[in-house]
Amino acid sequence: MCGIVGYIGPRDATPIILQGLKRLEYRGYDSAGVAVLQNGHIEVRRDAGKLSRLTKLVEEKPLSGHIGIGHTRWATHGEPNARNAHPHIGMTGEVVVVHNGIVENFLELREELAAEGAEFHSDTDTETIVHLVERLMGAQQGLEQAAMQTFHRLKGHQSVVLLSSREPDKIVAARLGNAGGVVIGFGEDEMFVASDLPAILEHTREVVFLENGEMAIVTREGVRLQTLDGAPIERAPQTVPWDPVAAEKGEYRHFMQKEIHEQVRSLTDTIAGRVDFEAGRVYLPQLNLTPELARRIKRIVITACGTAYHAGLVGKYLIEHIARLPVEVDVASELRYRDPIIDEDTVLLAISQSGETADTLAAMAEGRTRGATLWAVVNVIGSQAMRVADGYISMQTGPEIGVASTKAYTAPLVDLYMLAILLADLRGILDEQERRRLVAALRLVPDLAGQALEREPEVEAAARSLLETKHCLYLGRGINMPTAYEGALKLKEISYIHAEGYPAGEMKHGPIALIDRDMPVVVIATQDRWYEKMLSQIEQVKSRGGPVVAVATEGDEMIASLADHVLWVPETPWMLSPVVNVIPLQMLAYHIAALLGLDVDQPRNLAKSVTVE
Ligand code: M6R
Repeated sequence: MCGIVGYIGPRDATPIILQGLKRLEYRGYDSAGVAVLQNGHIEVRRDAGKLSRLTKLVEEKPLSGHIGIGHTRWATHGEPNARNAHPHIGMTGEVVVVHNGIVENFLELREELAAEGAEFHSDTDTETIVHLVERLMGAQQGLEQAAMQTFHRLKGHQSVVLLSSREPDKIVAARLGNAGGVVIGFGEDEMFVASDLPAILEHTREVVFLENGEMAIVTREGVRLQTLDGAPIERAPQTVPWDPVAAEKGEYRHFMQKEIHEQVRSLTDTIAGRVDFEAGRVYLPQLNLTPELARRIKRIVITACGTAYHAGLVGKYLIEHIARLPVEVDVASELRYRDPIIDEDTVLLAISQSGETADTLAAMAEGRTRGATLWAVVNVIGSQAMRVADGYISMQTGPEIGVASTKAYTAPLVDLYMLAILLADLRGILDEQERRRLVAALRLVPDLAGQALEREPEVEAAARSLLETKHCLYLGRGINMPTAYEGALKLKEISYIHAEGYPAGEMKHGPIALIDRDMPVVVIATQDRWYEKMLSQIEQVKSRGGPVVAVATEGDEMIASLADHVLWVPETPWMLSPVVNVIPLQMLAYHIAALLGLDVDQPRNLAKSVTVE
């Protein structure tokens, strides 16, 4: 996960920035850099690999000054090498930028800038920002004005921090969407900027957080907040506790809420470095999937528990549809006690956030005994599941603290989508046009997730109406049937409200008997091939007096007229819709539990990692 640190004040900026980046190190990164204004000139040091390499570089070629910005990068566009590491400096050498997120329209901007003479020195989307700012600054405009105009040109979710040698008394920062936060810290005659609170906490407890669509002009004396159109924003600083746990939560009340909001970032990182959009290909090198193995596999057995199992159910749809391989999905605690049909032509694919779940590990051991190839999709690097597997995909979500899994649900959905494409390609059943179409859809995912997150106030309103609820039914169909399961699991585990996820078509075979005005039904009714059938489910619930909460595609007036509450999501390619559709359900469960005053992050009786049978 990318990290940003900036400093302006009387002290030497370099060690403060390096130390701040170190505090963010555990989130993962593949290169790092720092830029400092030294004797009126911007000096940049950056390198691939760990911060220790950057620190060594700074020792060899020291830089010091009173204003600077630094970055740890997780590659999205371009390889993780020194030339792609941030900060990126412009052609005049007068402007420098660090950036989290993705400039979605970077190809278009790059062409436009190149046509006007800009020379690019990296493969990154970020570099377009610095060229744009430079061009707009021209001879007359200031950094602030040029930055504002630039921000209006950028599509996608991102945070941007800039400084210019022409205006050595300020740092300009902006939060554009949900690709991580921007926090401004207040010191004595000094100020700090960071993507995450832990980076600056040793210097200050007085902070303000930027909201989406806001920018900050930071000087030694303080900060001026404004909208991207220049309208001033008044916001008093808040005091954050020294407690490192509270600090890690940043602007959020709970880890779960923070992790829900981190999904734009984690989905960006999931795709980063694994997708070549120009070639229309995906790469999962740690899986050790050879063309020979891809052709030999006769079936895949996915095994997992809880939320990870629901991800596996979506994986079945994806792999069967795209790669035309039979897939079975087995709860790990069941697989180990069956006599499963697993042999050398089977891949046993375990999904586990922790990589330490006892049942999942036992199912893997069973697979090993029967000669299967073992794959794992895991979040914790170095975990047991990763170590015993023949190949793995690491979820790029960063640590997940909340017991209720959120970002470690959506990341593997994208991993499984990429796996399905790779399998189909290696098995020779995917024509180039279709492969390119499937790969291109990945580019949309972080932004679509961001759009779903922006609907949080409406989800919170729906949550308020459900506080008295004792039971709740979740219905979904097709690829969103597991979304219903996952939505119900989220609700029950943190709010202690009884919730059941059901395949919508099964309602008439039993659960319909439960429907009355005290049984709210949450339906996933987005516009896809199952839409008409979901409409009829809604009618059936309504005709029995059941309140309906519908996850629906933005602009769907039919659903708006039928449902009691609508949780809007943007239109999404159907195979990736489970990634987006689950987000309002995560937020719904979160807000119900938070409004009920429950311990959201550590619900009763549950552990983050279930290492016993
Ligand atoms: O670490 P794992 O992914 O193997 O954990 C599996 C389940 O224990 C986990 O997903 C559990 O269901 C969560 N509490 C769901 O939010």
